Amino acid sequence: MDTKTFKGRSLLTWLDYTGEEIRALLDLSKQVKEEKKRGETHQRFAGKTVALIFEKHSTRTRSAFETAVGEEGGYPVFLSPADIHLGEKETIEDTARVLGRMYSAIQFRGYKQATVEALAKYSGVPVYNGLTDDYHPTQVLADVQTIEENFGPAKGKKLCFVGDGRNNVARSLMVISAKLGIHFTIVTPPSLNPDPVLVGKCEPLAAATGSKICVSADTAEVEGACAIYTDVWASMGEEAKKAERVTLLSPYQVNQTLMDKTGRRDTIFLHCLPAIRNEEVTAEVIDGPQTRVWDEAENRKHTIKAIMLATI
Ligand code: CP
Ligand code: NVA
Repeated sequence: MDTKTFKGRSLLTWLDYTGEEIRALLDLSKQVKEEKKRGETHQRFAGKTVALIFEKHSTRTRSAFETAVGEEGGYPVFLSPADIHLGEKETIEDTARVLGRMYSAIQFRGYKQATVEALAKYSGVPVYNGLTDDYHPTQVLADVQTIEENFGPAKGKKLCFVGDGRNNVARSLMVISAKLGIHFTIVTPPSLNPDPVLVGKCEPLAAATGSKICVSADTAEVEGACAIYTDVWASMGEEAKKAERVTLLSPYQVNQTLMDKTGRRDTIFLHCLPAIRNEEVTAEVIDGPQTRVWDEAENRKHTIKAIMLATI
C-alpha cells in the first residue's frame, strides 16, 4: 500500500485506520529500522517542525519523537503546559489554530482524549496521540512490531494482557489486535474489565479479521500466548488508587509461574515501560531471558518515525 494516502492524517486511535493501513505503517517502520541499522542517514523532515506537548511525564515517547524528527533534519519543539497557555488562558481550539500555522505536525500527551481530538480538528496539521487516559496508539504499533520480530506476521497469534484491563494500553492493544487479526485476551479482575462499549466495537472488527477478543479473571487463560504484556497498576493521574490496585492486582502479577502457564517456552514478555519491578512484574521476568522490553522501547522510535514519514 502506498503511504501517500496518509498525508495530512492524524493518529488519535487505531479505530480510525484499517488493518491494511496499519500493516503499511509496520512495513515502513521495519524499513526505517533497517536503514538505521545499516547506518544510512536521511533528511526527510528537512524544513519540518513538530510541536510536542506533554501534560504528563515521558521518557520514551518524548525521546522517540525528538530524535526521530531531529535525525531526519527536522526541528522538534517541546512545549510544557507549565509554559504555554493551552486550555487555561487560551482555549484548546485557539492554541490548535496557532500551532497549525507554525508547525508541520503536533504531538499531544495528556489526560483527555477530547483535547487531542480538538487539536486535530482545529490545527489543520497531523496530530499524534502520544498517550491519553483512553489510548496509547503509538505504543502498540511498536508492540506489534516487536511481536513480529519474534514470531513473524502477528495475524493469528495470541497476545495476552495481564493487569489493569481498562487502561489506555490495554484498550489500544485491543483495537490494534482486532484490526490486525491478533487473538487478544485481557486477564483482569472483573472490577477492572475494559469498557464494554469499546469491547463491543472491537468484537465485530476482530470477527472480520478472524480473531477473538476475550476478557477473563482467570490467569489460566494465558495458555498458548506468544506474548504476555503488562503495564503499571496505577496509570499516570491515578496515583490515589495505588493501594486499592495493589490489593486487586497482586494475584495478577507477571512472575515466572504465570509465564509458564502459557505452556510455551518461547513466550516473550512485553511492557510499555516504565515498569515497577516486583509489583506488576517480577525482576526475574523483566530482566530474564523472555523479556523483549528493550527492543520494544527501541521500536517506539522506528514506528513513530514511520507514522510521521507517512503523514507529514
Ligand atoms: N511507554 C511510554 O510511553 O513511555 P514514556 O511514558 O516514557 O513515554
Ligand atoms: N498506562 C500507563 C502507560 C505509561 C506509558 C500510564 O498511562 O501511565
